[in-house]
Amino acid sequence: RPRLLSGMQPTSDSLHLGNYIGALVNWVELQEQFDAYFFIADLHTITMGHDPKALRARSHRYIAQYLAAGIDPSKSVLFAQSHVPEHPRLSWVLECLTGFGEAGRMTQFKDKSSKEGTEGATVGLFTYPILQAADILLYRPALVPVGEDQRQHLELTRDLAQRFNKRFGKTFRVPEAHIVKATAKILDLQHPEKKMSGSIGGPGCLWLLDDPKVSAKKIRSAVTDTGRDIVFDPENKPGVANLLTILSVLGHEPVEALEAKFVGAGYGDLKKEVAAAYEEFAGPIAEKANALIADPDTLDDILADGAAKAQETTARVLAEVYDRVGFLPPK
Ligand code: TYM
Repeated sequence: RPRLLSGMQPTSDSLHLGNYIGALVNWVELQEQFDAYFFIADLHTITMGHDPKALRARSHRYIAQYLAAGIDPSKSVLFAQSHVPEHPRLSWVLECLTGFGEAGRMTQFKDKSSKEGTEGATVGLFTYPILQAADILLYRPALVPVGEDQRQHLELTRDLAQRFNKRFGKTFRVPEAHIVKATAKILDLQHPEKKMSGSIGGPGCLWLLDDPKVSAKKIRSAVTDTGRDIVFDPENKPGVANLLTILSVLGHEPVEALEAKFVGAGYGDLKKEVAAAYEEFAGPIAEKANALIADPDTLDDILADGAAKAQETTARVLAEVYDRVGFLPPK
């Protein structure tokens, strides 16, 4: 079976709906056809300053949410990035193939460092996308399912794979980003010109583990657009289009069917229906996730098993890389 890999940074107590619709829901589906690897990018999470206790708790919480959403550890390998030392070891080699200017042009670095200027940013934030490339290339996946905001990092990953292969001989598979166009960018409910984001949070962001009633209220207060027809027009009606996308995924109905259903209805009706679908979806997921969070031992067992399986691949691939680069083989 072809291989697939993806991960998330455990930066909050809960995933938000953008993480779920843009990534996790696709992972759950894809694990049926692929040899799938899913991880928490905990090494990436310390690039911007963090609280150790929160990181530990959030790492468990993210794995619990993967499982609650339907990732099945008997089908997929689930692990923590920090448990697989080949990730940072490959990253170093790739850093030595990346131009300083090339890394500086990454938009995430520019966005996240701009608040204080690059002076206040860490070197870890600068090399972040290179570690991400290492995460991916070590497993030689065919596909990397992510949301739109990861496209540039996937491009860099492909460039680095090609560069390494050209210089040292074919070693890496050049992976494809798997970005589902319709759901690749879920928007903030209050600012539908921006993506939904955990670092912004607030009334425009839906947290999976929040009380579903709180989220339903946020949905009923979502900003809609001028006009009154419920049509899918992301250019001119991003707020309404976003709600239709969310309803389509949570209610398992194509957007066209929803448009037909809402002919003659008002924005209030749409929001009510999205809120109801959300409550129905989030209630059971939150319940399952919370039960798993209460049992960290089981989560740790799953991670230990996953790290061992991951290393079956990564140890081999890294040894090959080190050999190609010219390091002496340890005797
Ligand atoms: P992260 O943790 O920011 O996001 C996790 C996943 O959620 C997607 N996503 C969204 N999709 C649609 N709409 C949104 N509003 C939205 N917000 C987030 C992201 O695109 C992502 O797929 N750098 C990565 C983590 C990472 C990784 C990797 C991913 C580290 N190494 C290797 C893939 C492969 C990140 O910060 O994702």
